[in-house]
Parts: sequence; C-alpha cells; structure tokens
Amino acid sequence: MAHRYEVPARVDTGVPNVARMYDYYLGGKDNFGVDREAAENVMAALPDMPLMVRENRRFLHRAVRFLAGSAGIRQFLDIGAGLPTQGNVHAVAHSVAPDARVVYVDNDPMVVTHGRALLSDSTKVSVVQADLRDPEKVLEAARGFLDFERPVAVLMLAVLHFIRDVEDPWDILACFRDAMPSGSYLAISHVTGDYHPEATSAARQVYDDQTNATMVFRRHGDVLRFFGGLELLDPGLTTKSLWRPDSPSEVPNGAEEQWGYAGVAIKR
Ligand SMILES: C[S@@+](CC[C@H](N)C(=O)[O-])C[C@H]1O[C@@H](n2cnc3c(N)ncnc32)[C@H](O)[C@@H]1O
Repeated sequence: MAHRYEVPARVDTGVPNVARMYDYYLGGKDNFGVDREAAENVMAALPDMPLMVRENRRFLHRAVRFLAGSAGIRQFLDIGAGLPTQGNVHAVAHSVAPDARVVYVDNDPMVVTHGRALLSDSTKVSVVQADLRDPEKVLEAARGFLDFERPVAVLMLAVLHFIRDVEDPWDILACFRDAMPSGSYLAISHVTGDYHPEATSAARQVYDDQTNATMVFRRHGDVLRFFGGLELLDPGLTTKSLWRPDSPSEVPNGAEEQWGYAGVAIKR
C-alpha cells in the first residue's frame, strides 16, 4: 500500500479517545473525564452500548476458545487489541493452549504502554504500536514474533468500523488475507446500522464530531466482503450474541436485531 500512517507518540487526554471510551463502557478505570462525557453522549443515543460491548467481549472469548481449542491454532494476531481488561486474548488462549503466541497491535499509545506493562515478563506475548491501515508494517512486526509458515488467527474485533470507506478497508483486508497461510482463520466483529438506523446514526454523530476517530456502521454485505474468498464457518456472519452461544439462556433479548455482526472464517 502506498500509505504510511504515523501513530501518535503521546497520550492525548484532551480529546475523547475510542479505546478509553470502550474501557468506560466495560466498567474499566483507564479513562478520563472527556472520555466518560463522550461515552455518556453515545449512551444517550444507544443506551445498550455497555451490553453490546459485553456481547462483543463474549464473542471474543467464544471465538478464541474455539480457535485455540478444536481449531488447534497456536498463533494469534489481535489487531485493534484495546486496553487490557478481563479475559484478554492471551489469557483465554492460554487457558486452552498454554504454548499459544499472541501479538497485540494497536495504534493507541496508552493501549500499548498498558499492554507492555501488564505483559513485561511474558515471552509468549508481544505488543506492537502500529496502524492497521499500514498492513505491511503490522505484518512485518508480527513476523518477528509469529511464524507465517504455520496457521495464524487474525482477529479484528470492533476495529474496522474506525476505518472509513475512502481508506478502502477491503483492500487492507486483502493484504492480511494474502499473508495468512492456509489453515489460518480470520475473526471479525463490526457495528451495523441495519436494524436501528436512527439510534446508530445519532451515535455515529457523537464519534464523528467529538472523538479521535470516526465510526462507520456498515451493512451486512459490506462486512461480509472483508472475508473475501475465505470460508465462513457456521453460523456465518451473525449478530454477535448469535455466534455459537454457550447456551440459549445467555442470548439476550433482541439478539436477532443487534447493531453488531460477528463471524469467523478459514483460509483453505
Ligand atoms: C473498540 S476497541 C476494541 C478492542 C478489542 N478488539 C475488543 O473487541 O474488545 C478498538 C481498538 O482499536 C484501536 N484502533 C482504532 N483504529 C485503529 C487503527 N487504525 N489501527 C490500529 N488500532 C486501531 C483503538 O485504539 C482501540 O484500542
């Protein structure tokens, strides 16, 4: 790709930040007043935002358990990893496969600082500051830690909606898919306005006007295109809660019309 994206060198506490807002929705403490204020504005439009981010994390847990378990994956590349929280990817993967290696990638300096502090004594986990719109740089850093001759699970959860259409996220995804060896998996979750267009439009406006990133609520078909020619596993690209729930009782009301999709595909 022709573009190079500079990653911010310093934590900016004056502008609401999407990583810290996500931490706030999850009930974390790694956020500032500006983040909480913007997050509350989003929640005024979408009161079930905390539920949705929890469902996103639960999808992450189920997907990683499956990948490290029956899929036999031992290498994870988690792009747009977010601030450390309960049940991080390496913890879930290691609960199933203690030898799994994980590379976390995020463009946010606070995410990277916190991640490195948490994982300073781990030889199986690496934290990289890079922008996913710069796939060569992300892949180069990942190759220093993961073996791309063997299957890798690439996770892009709740991050692609921060990439605008004009930045051609589909082309970016093609770079990652091309680099993945056969037997690799791609897991994606992404917000949608397919079911609640007015509320999601109001929430998008808050992100666009007040935070350090814009948010794109994509249609089902546009999220599907991120998987390219990979083979989507059952049940396909569904709303988050409907992707292989552990039990019917954990599926929240209204799961068929959530404003987020999730899916996992394999490269044959
Ligand atoms: C909503 S959080 C999601 C965290 C985690 N993946 C999850 O699903 O729980 C999105 C993360 O993506 C990061 N991010 C946003 N745009 C990015 C980009 N262009 N390159 C790398 N990371 C990005 C943000 O800093 C933030 O930490």
